Amino acid sequence: MHRQTEILLAGLRGARPRVPVGFAALEARAREVLSAEAFAYIAGGAGSELTMRANRDAFERRRIVPRMLRDVSVRDTSVELFGRRLPAPFFLSPIGAIELAHRDADLAVARAAASLGVPMVFSSQASVPMETCARAMGAAPRWFQLYWSRDDDLVASFVARAERCGCEAIVLTLDTTLLGWRTRDLELGYLPFLHGKGIAQYTSDPVFMRKLGEPLDGPAPERGRATLAALRAALTMARRVPGGTLRNLRGGRALAAVRRFVATYTRPSLEWKDLATLRAMTKLPIVLKGILHADDARRAMDAGMDGVLVSNHGGRQVDGAIAALDALPAVVEAVDGRVPVLMDSGIRGGADAFKALALGARAVGIGRGYAYGLAIAGEEGVREVIANMMGELDLTMGLAGCAGVGEVGREMLAGGD
Ligand SMILES: Cc1cc2nc3c(=O)[nH]c(=O)nc-3n(C[C@H](O)[C@H](O)[C@H](O)COP(=O)(O)O)c2cc1C
Repeated sequence: MHRQTEILLAGLRGARPRVPVGFAALEARAREVLSAEAFAYIAGGAGSELTMRANRDAFERRRIVPRMLRDVSVRDTSVELFGRRLPAPFFLSPIGAIELAHRDADLAVARAAASLGVPMVFSSQASVPMETCARAMGAAPRWFQLYWSRDDDLVASFVARAERCGCEAIVLTLDTTLLGWRTRDLELGYLPFLHGKGIAQYTSDPVFMRKLGEPLDGPAPERGRATLAALRAALTMARRVPGGTLRNLRGGRALAAVRRFVATYTRPSLEWKDLATLRAMTKLPIVLKGILHADDARRAMDAGMDGVLVSNHGGRQVDGAIAALDALPAVVEAVDGRVPVLMDSGIRGGADAFKALALGARAVGIGRGYAYGLAIAGEEGVREVIANMMGELDLTMGLAGCAGVGEVGREMLAGGD
């Protein structure tokens, strides 16, 4: 049944959607149910949040020009990606520390994604190990997002685990070799990872755990005062690291895990030539996430990459960066159909997806939207957010005169300058 009909029929029985359909209401509702820290972490962006606004502005400047009298009685929103036919041109962009939104975290997201056949991208910063999510997904599509750690053995271990988990692509995120200047988080002095949240891929990794006792580079952190907040943080960490809460607290394993994570999780020295190492590590398609310049897209193809994801991390990294949608046309032109171009950052509904497809994206990533759905109604909330996006895209295509995604081209848009 079409999503719209489903909602309206439920309305006849007196039921309203649990999860608000419009994005502004969705975000407002999520804000009500989340702690101040969780909402700030999910909703916030870098600096003055100019990039976040630019992402939306780029969608608002472009207008769809519907065409009439074309038979749209049967519509097909499916696309082909990495050897799979997907029901719709959506995937779930990786969102780290998503336990901030709901205790079922990645597992609820995995179940919702699998039930609709929409690929989920497992985050390197997940709150649930990828193996647990993969087991819950059956044969449904999933990819793995990699943060390239300072430790190559750990990178190899993550990639091997992703392969064993049936991931069908590796998405290497390039725009976060350093954490952006996140004003809202700084205001609250809060970062989930320091509380042991969002480091489950690490604490479930044999290479990471084997090296826990090894010395780290750099000065040891000062021993803080045993304030209530510090004790609470230590307890949260201890609960999250395998081995038993008490043992972890006493043996300092939880703190060691967080310290090791902070010291090793990213490698700001990463260069183009390093991609050869990853290329040699796996036969899976590799997608570069965070590409915003045509030259970088060309270099990605020279390096044997299999896709690019045009993204500015939802405006969380560089304040005042180009909007992802504005960067898309030049990247599409440079890639010239050789590999799929994906896009995220600013997708708030099906009509936004239509615009990105019109500019040449093969599929688009849903980001904060599903995190808000999760916060409001767990697995069901994620499912509703995805289903709404799919339903709105299908109707937008039909109303614009497009029976298939292949008909959604640049000529369907006006504006943009
Ligand atoms: C709370 C949060 C956590 C994120 N964690 C990751 C991550 O672990 N890895 C990654 O590559 N991108 C991460 N991203 C970026 C998303 O994958 C995606 O690029 C972004 O959310 C898209 O923008 P939008 O949310 O405005 O649509 C995160 C985004 C948010 C909001």
